[in-house]
This record gives sequence, C-alpha cells and structure tokens, in this order.
Amino acid sequence: MEPLNPVAIPQTGAGRRMCVVGASGKLGRYMVRHALDRGYEVVGVCREQSVPKLDDFADRITVIGGATNDRAVIARAVESCDAVLTVLVPWGVRDYSSGTAQAVMDYAKPGARLVFSCGWHITRDGEDKYSKRFKAMVAVAAKVMRFLRVVDIDDQVEACRRIFASDTRWTVVRGSDLEEGPSEGLPVWSRHVGDPVLASNLTRRTDFALFMVEAVTDDALVREAPAIVGRRTASALAHADGPA
Ligand SMILES: NC(=O)c1ccc[n+]([C@@H]2O[C@H](COP(=O)([O-])OP(=O)(O)OC[C@H]3O[C@@H](n4cnc5c(N)ncnc54)[C@H](OP(=O)(O)O)[C@@H]3O)[C@@H](O)[C@H]2O)c1
Repeated sequence: MEPLNPVAIPQTGAGRRMCVVGASGKLGRYMVRHALDRGYEVVGVCREQSVPKLDDFADRITVIGGATNDRAVIARAVESCDAVLTVLVPWGVRDYSSGTAQAVMDYAKPGARLVFSCGWHITRDGEDKYSKRFKAMVAVAAKVMRFLRVVDIDDQVEACRRIFASDTRWTVVRGSDLEEGPSEGLPVWSRHVGDPVLASNLTRRTDFALFMVEAVTDDALVREAPAIVGRRTASALAHADGPA
C-alpha cells in the first residue's frame, strides 16, 4: 500500500505502539494510514460489524472488535501503547463518548499520549466566540439528535470536561467542517474559535487525522485543545503565524 504522502516520511513512530479507537471510520482509517507511514505499530478498535472495513490493513495492524465504551475492550487495546488516538463521536444516548474517554484515561499506561477528536462546539475555557449561525445549528442538532436517540452531544461535552480535568497527557483536537481531498499539509491551529485564522472553517479530513497523529510527538500540544483549520485555506494563508 502506498503511503498517503509520497515524500520520505520521518519514522517518528518506530518502536512505538499506537492505539486508534474508532479505527474503521473515515477519520480513523486516515489515522491508521498516517501512523503506519510513520512506523508505528498500530492497534485498531472498532465495532465487531465494522472489522471488515479494516481488511486492507489486516496484515499490518492488530484489530480488536467491540464497543469503544466497553472497558474490557479498551483495557486490552491500550495495553502497552505509547499513544491512544480516539474518535470521540457521541453515538446513542448511553454515554458512548464519556464512557470511551473514561476507559481510555483509566487504562492507558501512565505517561501515554492521549489525543481525542471532536468539533469546534467544544469549549475548554468559555473564551471561544461562535457566530449566531453556528450556535443555532449546534443547538438544533443537539435537540433533534437527542430526541431521535441517535447522538448525544451533551455526552461529548461531558467526555471533554473529564479530559480537561484529568492529569493525563491529553490533547483535544477540535475539528472545523471537514471535506475530502488530497492532503494540504498539517493544519494550523488556534486556542480559540473566533480567531481570524480559523474563519475559513474547513479542513481536509486526511489533514485532521494527520494533526491527531503528529500531536503525539508535539509536547507543545499537551493539555491543549487546538481548534484547527486547513493550512491552505484563505484565513490560514492570511493570518497564520502561530497559536493565538
Ligand atoms: N464530520 C464533520 O464535519 C466533523 C467536524 C468536526 C469534527 N468532527 C469530529 O471528527 C470525528 C469523526 O468524524 P468523521 O465525520 O470523519 O466520521 P467517522 O470517521 O466516520 O467516524 C464515525 C465513527 O463513529 C462510529 N460509529 C458510527 N455509527 C456508530 C454507532 N451507531 N455506534 C457506535 N459507533 C458508531 C464509526 O465506526 P463504524 O466504522 O463502526 O461505523 C466511526 O468510528 C468525531 O470526533 C467528530 O466529532 C467531525
């Protein structure tokens, strides 16, 4: 399988083990690819019915099938991993997101890098500035999805509250709207939504995954909640000069 990025990629993961929780999804599969390209040994966790989605990686990664909020599944998957990357989607109304995050924090080895994904709607310090349109969209989506018992956004908020309060070596990566397409390189980030650098509100999904994987070796991101945007977007090109 060809690497996502054809130029020589530094083997920053050589001799290190990474667990990707939610490996079969769109973001998860990109994370697996980036991790393999960097020499990590990869363990992927996904629902039993989604294991075949990882068939093309079958001879290169270890796949553990099961619910990501099943504590026994997570305990087995994260054992001796140096890094755990988690797709934090709040499926259903039975604490899927917070259960997954809590299990990862409880069972990852001490000192492991923990990187979680979510959207811009998560705020760490309340200093994010959202447009009226964004706030209305999140509020409506939260109500409708919870009513339909499909997604519980409040549980993702709870998951992140626990992560922010934890003394693990976490990073919460907050994604903008996403699109498919070839990589534009590592996204740029800011501590706060509303910063002009983020105004374009668009990131290639492969680059969201790249940011998650590269965060593992970036100590500047420990206990940060970077909000990201594609590095070739208009707002990044106009304003990017480091985190704000
Ligand atoms: N989409 C966006 O525009 C957007 C924007 C900002 C941030 N994000 C963040 O990006 C991450 C994932 O985004 P994505 O759009 O690329 O989706 P994705 O990677 O396809 O992720 C969906 C994940 O949820 C799992 N899943 C699907 N249905 C499920 C169910 N009923 N019960 C349990 N698990 C289920 C999928 O696993 P299976 O393979 O088993 O179905 C997969 O691991 C999330 O953390 C999200 O907050 C997304």
